[in-house]
Amino acid sequence: MSTFYNTIQQKFTNLFGQATTILHAPGRINIIGEHTDYNNGYVLPAPVDKKLSFAFAKNELNGLVRIHAINLDEYLEFQLEDANPKTKGWLKYIMAITDTFLENDQGFDCVFGGDLPIGSGMSSSSALTCGLAAGLNNLFELNYSPIDLVKRVQDAEAKYTGVRGGIMDQFTIAMGKENQVLLLDCQSLDYQYFPLVLGDYALLLCNTGVQHELANSEYNTRRSECEEGVAILQSKGETIESLRDVSLAMINTYRNHLDPIIFDRCYYVVKENARVLEACKALQNNDMMTLGALLYASHYGLQYEYQVSCPELDFLVKQTEGLPEVLGARMMGGGFGGCTINLVEKKAVNRVIETLSSQYFEHFNKKMEAYKVAIGPGIFQSQ
Ligand code: GLA
Repeated sequence: MSTFYNTIQQKFTNLFGQATTILHAPGRINIIGEHTDYNNGYVLPAPVDKKLSFAFAKNELNGLVRIHAINLDEYLEFQLEDANPKTKGWLKYIMAITDTFLENDQGFDCVFGGDLPIGSGMSSSSALTCGLAAGLNNLFELNYSPIDLVKRVQDAEAKYTGVRGGIMDQFTIAMGKENQVLLLDCQSLDYQYFPLVLGDYALLLCNTGVQHELANSEYNTRRSECEEGVAILQSKGETIESLRDVSLAMINTYRNHLDPIIFDRCYYVVKENARVLEACKALQNNDMMTLGALLYASHYGLQYEYQVSCPELDFLVKQTEGLPEVLGARMMGGGFGGCTINLVEKKAVNRVIETLSSQYFEHFNKKMEAYKVAIGPGIFQSQ
């Protein structure tokens, strides 16, 4: 067992006594399929081997929650009935879940922490919400199926953060499997696992260390712009429900009827959905060159058509174009900061990290962190 597991248990014993439920919730990467989930499209994510671990026990304190965050060394307590979306910091995410899943008298104690970097673009916030929800599901025998749990967590996060997020992060964190990527159809929620076999290549994340304020509002704006595109196509008589039902030929037909910005957003999503399916084929055929080219195409779509990138992400992607050891790179996640994901020749990984981090420092005077990706188990595989 990892040392973190021991640290969590030890802390729990010191603070509250005996823990009755222990579980782990990983972060996630996404190989390709960005901003497609809330458009009923395809995504190709996987859980990482970096995670938050949780220890829980019920308490008899009449609706009091006592919770300790190891990494921040912060202890907080609140009454369940005081849960409020206006709360700041990590407690907001805790309250989102307790408010959604518990009755006001179901008090509990919890200690959590781990090696998943916060705010790195690996969805540490959904690791927190999903881990907590799965723990409470066990502890109070709430009997939600994994998929129902995922959907409820997605709604809880939207209610508390005001961001109308898709289902990719929660689904991956809950349902992912070690060494496998997940092809998820966000319309039907059908999913398929693919072994991640990259041959001489590896995935590397480069963290810009940037988190832009506008990420949340721009996220909702993008979602509305896509909905506007769908509404216009519907008004022209097309029987579609979402951008998932739109082909490249259809969107091109209406180019002159759509505001150029709306066209670009929809065009990107239609193309990105196709790229996810192509990426699956490339993975199955061990065709790393094609996979790499798809990553670049995705990035340039996100940069110019969907416009959710930022100078730091663009810089890190652009720099890799001069490096023959890198087959592809793109921004990952919601955008406006966070990480790039790179397909890099295994034996060159350390050299690429050195090159990119020194170029990044020279240009932005900021440190770039890098993480070598391994695919770990999702919550329900590791329980
Ligand atoms: C965030 C959201 C996801 C997804 C990505 C973009 O991570 O939580 O639902 O929309 O952005 O692909």
